[in-house]
Amino acid sequence: MRRILEMINIVEQRKTDHFYALETFGGRGRMLTFDLYRMVDKMDIWEINNEYEKDLKRRFPCANIKICDSIEEIKNVEDNTYNLVSMDNPPYLEPFSMYPEAFRILKNIGIIITNSISSKKINKQTITDEQIAKRYNFYKSDNVDVGHIVKTFINLAHESGYEVNWVLVNPNSIVDTLAMKVTEYE
Ligand SMILES: C[S@@+](CC[C@H](N)C(=O)[O-])C[C@H]1O[C@@H](n2cnc3c(N)ncnc32)[C@H](O)[C@@H]1O
Repeated sequence: MRRILEMINIVEQRKTDHFYALETFGGRGRMLTFDLYRMVDKMDIWEINNEYEKDLKRRFPCANIKICDSIEEIKNVEDNTYNLVSMDNPPYLEPFSMYPEAFRILKNIGIIITNSISSKKINKQTITDEQIAKRYNFYKSDNVDVGHIVKTFINLAHESGYEVNWVLVNPNSIVDTLAMKVTEYE
């Protein structure tokens, strides 16, 4: 994931004066969130588990930390707020209902990051029938590879009124982390 962030930094060269990011799945902030924090000017970090609040406040003194259910909280954010919305979700908790909201709260040019997971990486012992059904409903397939993930997110961007400038996928972990830069249609 660090490589993806480095590439975003290089490709974008901090083109905006004020880069404002949201992490909706903050955890203790030891991984993606930690790298993201160093790249941006202003950051909001949300996390559902209040046991992580102390660590997050200590690790990210300049961020605005909120303990909340991000799936609900995102509905309260004003349109066009962030330059970057990251959903560093756990593997089987792909936040399908958040994706349209993530586009809504993005500025007219912005970056979306999320953790998708291709079918071959799924552990059939740990995924539930409900999660399988939600995946089928989103991907319209039960055989999802990285190409299919990319196509699905490009379609979603178009449906949300954005064209896609670039997509990066890091498939080298238990999830397939996807980063995508989009620009709103005129
Ligand atoms: C993959 S970890 C996040 C890792 C973190 N971004 C980092 O850089 O270390 C996923 C986190 O999402 C949190 N989470 C799960 N469901 C959530 C929800 N509905 N709202 C907010 N956080 C949630 C979990 O408690 C967990 O800490």
